[in-house]
Amino acid sequence: MSRKVFFDTDPGCDDAVMLAMALGHDEIDVVGLSTVCGNTTIENTTQNTHAILELGGYDVPVARGCGRPLVDDLDTAEWIHGENGLHGDLPDVDVDTRDIHGADAITEAAREYGDELTIAAVGPLPNLAIALAKEPRLPDLVEDIYLMGGAAMTSGNVTPMAEANFHNDPAAASRVIQDATTRMVGLDVTNRATVAPEFIEEFREAGGVRGTIAEWLDYRPDSGTYPLSDAPAIHDAAVVADIIDESVLTFEEYYLDVDTTGGPCHGAVICDEHGTTDNEPNSRVAVDIDVRRYREVLETGVRAYASA
Ligand code: BDR
Ligand code: CA
Repeated sequence: MSRKVFFDTDPGCDDAVMLAMALGHDEIDVVGLSTVCGNTTIENTTQNTHAILELGGYDVPVARGCGRPLVDDLDTAEWIHGENGLHGDLPDVDVDTRDIHGADAITEAAREYGDELTIAAVGPLPNLAIALAKEPRLPDLVEDIYLMGGAAMTSGNVTPMAEANFHNDPAAASRVIQDATTRMVGLDVTNRATVAPEFIEEFREAGGVRGTIAEWLDYRPDSGTYPLSDAPAIHDAAVVADIIDESVLTFEEYYLDVDTTGGPCHGAVICDEHGTTDNEPNSRVAVDIDVRRYREVLETGVRAYASA
């Protein structure tokens, strides 16, 4: 039976691969999307989301969400993801968003689908933080909440300590970690969520939709080398792989905090690995990834999207 998933996303090349994979895979039913600023502006992430749907021939309702972090200034990453935040040859689409804010669309889906629904938030977290503020019972309504973000027991990718999504909105990340028990899928595992070079080459040579997907898969900073991994890590796709096959990621329970104090650790996750705070665990943290199975699930979903 396919799992119903609502995505809160900021495409972004790894978001685009994740959406292609989820849209294509038989075992995921994408019931709705909300957009958030992050890799690029909210205008671009919303436009890119529509382009990803159009490219694969899918029709899923999109709600535009927050255009800036709750407290901090937005720090976009076009230098990695491309001029408009997404590489590749994209269709020129009309943006046709729903008449509802992204934060409210999350809660609406939770009320509609209840414990059949999984929420996957793979960008900065202002939409989810606002949804939780407006409806504190949200975590009890749904089956699961996955986050791509944070670095629990490893270093960061935008500062020595902080991962991009949490660093872009530390206040929102902090609220979400306090307000919900989530599955935090951070750099601890996603730095290893790379794809096989042969898969990228096959798609590049095929051209067309596959050629555009190859551009998403092979996204790199202007410098040409990717931080912390030997190939581009498709961070957000690790979430979908585990929703499809729960053997992909291994989780352990820990008490987490997010630093919001504005110093050198701003946006970093503090993971109580050794139980020194005496606080009960408040999160499930991904600590290992089966890369072979992750790649299989990703390839299955992406191939189906490309053939739709
Ligand atoms: C995360 O930050 C964004 O740049 C990516 O889309 C991913 O969600 C990785 O740190
Ligand atoms: Ca993302």
